[in-house]
Amino acid sequence: MASDTQPVTQTEPRKAARSASTASRRPASGARWIVPAKIAVFIAAWYPLARIVLFGVTDRLGANPIEFITRSTGLWTLVFLCITLAVTPLRRLTGVAAFVRFRRMLGLYAFFYATLHFTTYLWFDKWFDVAAILKDIGKRPFITVGFAAFVLLIALAVTSPRAMVRKLGRRWQMLHRSIYAIGALAILHFWWMKAGKHDLVLPKIYGTIMVALLGWRLIVWLRERRVKAR
Ligand code: HEM
Repeated sequence: MASDTQPVTQTEPRKAARSASTASRRPASGARWIVPAKIAVFIAAWYPLARIVLFGVTDRLGANPIEFITRSTGLWTLVFLCITLAVTPLRRLTGVAAFVRFRRMLGLYAFFYATLHFTTYLWFDKWFDVAAILKDIGKRPFITVGFAAFVLLIALAVTSPRAMVRKLGRRWQMLHRSIYAIGALAILHFWWMKAGKHDLVLPKIYGTIMVALLGWRLIVWLRERRVKAR
């Protein structure tokens, strides 16, 4: 998953697929730090799972381990979504084009933690009771929107390989625009869940981050549209 919307490095999907296949063989010009940095990010991204395992084996998951794991994996999914969405603004603000080379990996980690989050719910909360899950999805709005975000994430993860970028062409770009909807649904899911517990501190913080990230994109898009129209 290489979202947000621009495949790998450029707006043109075919060009991007071509340059991506070359880029996979060598670091972007003048950016020798990319390979070690990618390895560091790859390892660091396992921290949330390692923490859960460590807490599990040292009996520190609290009175309700399932709740701990569901909440931890949910929060880390959101964190990875925010980091993935921050790549493009960071690239534009710093001028460091190489940042884009981290986007696919970060997006796939968001999907990885979302899968763990969903699996915890599916397995330990509902014991694979499909009827109960469907009922929950239809009945509890925060589960409905969380599920919608997860389904969209699956679509982005499945179409993340470079071969898919090439195969889908412009449709790839359109599909990967749904990363913005995923961001919004994720906040709604979090907000709704915490509203029931009258604890909106964290949803407000993440909501502000998401509004800034999506708002920045919208401003850039509107500005580019105005320039093109002239
Ligand atoms: C992109 C997808 C998703 C994201 C970003 C996400 C994120 C989150 C977050 C941030 C929390 C609250 C964590 C906390 O309390 O600190 C949460 C809770 C929860 N999520 Fe998700 N979620 C997603 C998808 C799903 C799906 C697909 C399901 C199940 C169908 C689900 C079920 C739950 C449940 C049951 C809780 C509440 C746990 C509790 O009350 O203890 N989520 N999620």
